[in-house]
Amino acid sequence: MITIELEGRKIRVPEGLTVIEALWDTGHDVKRGIGCLSGLCGACTVAYLEAGAQRVKFGLGCQVVVAEGMNVIMLPYFPSRIARYDMADMANPLQELPGQYPELYACDDCKACNICPEWIHVAGFMKNAKEAAYATVAEKVKDCHLCGLCASRCPKSIAPQYVGLYLQRSCARQQPLPPNLRKRLEEMATFADDADFARVPVMSDDELKDFCRGFL
Ligand code: FES
Repeated sequence: MITIELEGRKIRVPEGLTVIEALWDTGHDVKRGIGCLSGLCGACTVAYLEAGAQRVKFGLGCQVVVAEGMNVIMLPYFPSRIARYDMADMANPLQELPGQYPELYACDDCKACNICPEWIHVAGFMKNAKEAAYATVAEKVKDCHLCGLCASRCPKSIAPQYVGLYLQRSCARQQPLPPNLRKRLEEMATFADDADFARVPVMSDDELKDFCRGFL
């Protein structure tokens, strides 16, 4: 057992738990702020101070393992403006970035947004975006979970995560569709696999394994 301070209370929890597991273990009814439990969705951002440390760190509650003397809180969902658009109606989404996210150009590079739990250099990609280095931005934000921690720190109320998402989508639209994705979209459009998927609930374990191998 170790002692940690969790949401302002000193408690003892088994060693080796993640922050989310420690919350559950101590009877917290955590529903909001939890999604995939796999470090992918970004719903579970936490701030924590390790024993003896001065600098607060940020991370994903389903991935950060608690340690003796750690002080940790979950961060609430942070509201941010997201542009509403349909890229299918846009001739060149990249050219429309200034119209969709005009606040981007108010960024004065203060770097307060550099607190990404995935270690993305947020201020760096925002500078790239302002300089129209769009492909660079799309590459840099690949690991973004859209947790919004960067937006929570911006004194100009810019949401870097959505700027990054817009540029990722815009750059992707300039590429040809990968063949496997095109094939899958066609299958979905024609309901080609519906009969097979309808059998899944009644398949034996071996049948299910064979079925899944067919997708590899
Ligand atoms: S619950 Fe999805 S990243 Fe933690």
